[in-house]
Amino acid sequence: MPKRIGVLLSGRGSNFEALAESIRAARLPNAEIALVVANREGAPGIEKARARGIPTRVIASKGLEREAYDRKVAAALQEAKVDLVCLAGYMRLLSPYFIAAFPQRILNIHPSLLPSFPGLEAQRQAFEHGVKFAGCTVHFVDENLDAGPIVLQAAVAIRDDDTVESLSERILAEEHRIYTEAVRIILEGRFRIEGRRVLMTPEKK
Ligand code: GAR
Repeated sequence: MPKRIGVLLSGRGSNFEALAESIRAARLPNAEIALVVANREGAPGIEKARARGIPTRVIASKGLEREAYDRKVAAALQEAKVDLVCLAGYMRLLSPYFIAAFPQRILNIHPSLLPSFPGLEAQRQAFEHGVKFAGCTVHFVDENLDAGPIVLQAAVAIRDDDTVESLSERILAEEHRIYTEAVRIILEGRFRIEGRRVLMTPEKK
């Protein structure tokens, strides 16, 4: 049985598309995207999912308390029998209720080398701080912002002639690459968590 992935997004959806493309190309074997949920109407990622024939739900978050909203989203994901929840540009903090509903089964991609530059516009934060290496991180999600145990990271060197846009573009290419790799490791169960450290176990031949 293919492992079922639920994707939560708020916007463009390029990380969702990268996962969908990896599944199609069998870089992510034995997996399927069972449901894509957006928290707002008009998220371009939802259109991209529809175009691929993937089931979608728009569950509007406006006006709802965090937990009341998360209960709705968790119910939709449970109904779709998802094994893993992937946040892909999902711009909301998750409640303890949601985290407890999917223990060690929620991943996020963030466009910085965490714990540096959590929060919004991480690429701009790194650029303006003047660091020489930016990058991206796939991590397990807990109740705190961009904070759970780190699965994979990729570093991107910042060039003198970079702009926030050119840097963000190179980071995004790395995001797409490491998200697939991380999802594969997690779905294959090739990891263990010791404290904050996520340790890989070798690939089975
Ligand atoms: C990505 O750069 C992702 O890393 C970032 O939002 C963008 C979504 O793009 N996520 C965060 O900042 C989470 N804190 P996408 O909709 O094209 O995947």
